[in-house]
Amino acid sequence: MNYLKILIFSSLLAVNLMTLATEKPVDTQNSVLELRYGVESLAYFPQLSEFMITTQRQHTKLWFAGIGKKWELAGYALDAMEKNFDETAKYHPIFNKEVPLGSHLTKYLEKPLGDLRTSIDNKDGRFFKKSFDNLTSACNACHIAENLRFIVVQKPTFLPFDNQKF
Ligand code: HEC
Repeated sequence: MNYLKILIFSSLLAVNLMTLATEKPVDTQNSVLELRYGVESLAYFPQLSEFMITTQRQHTKLWFAGIGKKWELAGYALDAMEKNFDETAKYHPIFNKEVPLGSHLTKYLEKPLGDLRTSIDNKDGRFFKKSFDNLTSACNACHIAENLRFIVVQKPTFLPFDNQKF
């Protein structure tokens, strides 16, 4: 739970209650709206597909950083991908009410992500490419295991981010 949000929401509630306690006329519609937004922001968390689309972008950036031998940038992209998968497992430990997505993430990704880290640490371009292919296969293996064989990830063929150097 995001404590900052709770704090903001509590303050909002307090302000609303204070407003109600005064003699001043209350803009009820606005108060209700503010409360609604507060509750909605507390309840909000990213959908699984949003995490996956983030991963998709990271997958592309990681590839171009690695084949460009920008090892610091590749390490950064890998950090971001790992963090995103940690968050995925935290917010979506179960998929479709039955699939243990959290443990599947570890099962499929631990080895390829570990190998990618080694390849980046050793600035080993050849091992990077091999490990990246294994990562892509792991993405697809998990999609197949989750009955999503139609979501097929492939090695990126072009760089869609023309506003960043790779
Ligand atoms: C633990 C299993 C698992 C792994 C590993 C996994 N995915 Fe997914 N992926 C899913 C599931 C489940 C969905 C369907 C999400 C939904 O529909 O809510 C999905 C959906 C997607 C989508 C479609 C999102 C959309 O809305 O268009 C993309 C793209 C994707 N994954 C990319 C990747 C990439 C890239 C990797 C590897 C770096 C990866 N996934 C690894 C389980 C996995």
